Amino acid sequence: MTENFEFKLIASDGKARRGEITMPRGTVRTPAFMPVGTAGTVKAMYMDQVADLGADIILGNTYHLMLRPSAERIAKLGGLHDFARWPGPILTDSGGFQVMSLAQLRKLDEKGVTFRSHIDGRAYEMSPERSIEIQGLLDSDIQMQLDECVALPSTPKDIQRAMELSLRWAERCKTAFGNQPGKAMFGIVQGGDVPDLRIRSAQALKAMDLKGYAVGGLAVGEPQEVMLDMLDVTCPELPAEKPRYLMGVGTPDDILKSVARGIDMFDCVMPTRAGRHGLAFTRRGKVNLRNARHADDPRPLDEESSCPAARDYSRAYLHHLVKSGEALGGMLLTWNNLAYYQQLMQGIRGAIEAKRFEAFSEETQGTWAQGDI
Ligand code: GUN
Repeated sequence: MTENFEFKLIASDGKARRGEITMPRGTVRTPAFMPVGTAGTVKAMYMDQVADLGADIILGNTYHLMLRPSAERIAKLGGLHDFARWPGPILTDSGGFQVMSLAQLRKLDEKGVTFRSHIDGRAYEMSPERSIEIQGLLDSDIQMQLDECVALPSTPKDIQRAMELSLRWAERCKTAFGNQPGKAMFGIVQGGDVPDLRIRSAQALKAMDLKGYAVGGLAVGEPQEVMLDMLDVTCPELPAEKPRYLMGVGTPDDILKSVARGIDMFDCVMPTRAGRHGLAFTRRGKVNLRNARHADDPRPLDEESSCPAARDYSRAYLHHLVKSGEALGGMLLTWNNLAYYQQLMQGIRGAIEAKRFEAFSEETQGTWAQGDI
């Protein structure tokens, strides 16, 4: 195991890349999907289950953890890995995005963001330096710069202002992070749906020579086509030898199309949140277990899956659990969904190695299109 943070490209097929990020706490096979563990838990899952599904890295949230139980408390208890019993790599988001979507009375200026907690209304300040300090207390392996993400649609002027502020914050986060050989601080490309701003953001971040680059500000209200256009203009500006992370994305279809454009890492609440709401992702597309058509159906979600949740429980039982609001319903569907996402990533990685990514992508989409039969 390495003492350093390193990214190695193993294979490529078109723009799709198969790589490996090594760091002291483990190796991340890319393209990777990172299950979201917002508050130090991948909701409705045991950490052992998450690891068994083949996830190499999970995500944690600065915003939630700073409010409760607090970064200082987690640091005193030995850091987030021990606290949550996940020994492998953890990436933490910086907090800005969650402040904007969750906190009350937010105010943003050059210094940073001030806001009131959505939990108890307490006032907090978060500067780029404080975000990096918190991520350091959590002891996460990949830390994200503080940024400002604007929702779309926004005016080009607002998008430009937020992008330029994010660049200045990236510099401050880089300085605050300093030199930590086994860890990385990633910059975040902003620029909304304006190609020229995306390019300028990517070029300026590239010049900072960071260890990895995220593409942010997408899947925030724009059509998929716009998101893919932004990846088409952004990815070529990023250095080939560094990992690229598309934040907060997405559906299995988004993932296939983004890998095809050169993205290496993803995170999204979709499989976990949808699972808790009765929605299953399967080889044959999405299945809504709330639907009455499942009430008498003895078949499992997918008899060929290696995941017990998909293979061993009838749709009738899953329907019953979901309709009754039983905790087990959310647990089984989350397990099924994360299993499906990790199987998809495994398939993607194998296909890139075999130089048949496009064929894999078409086959996978073809099977979704057959529907739930
Ligand atoms: N999660 C999803 N999108 C974003 C983004 O633009 N910035 C940050 N920090 N997190 C995100």
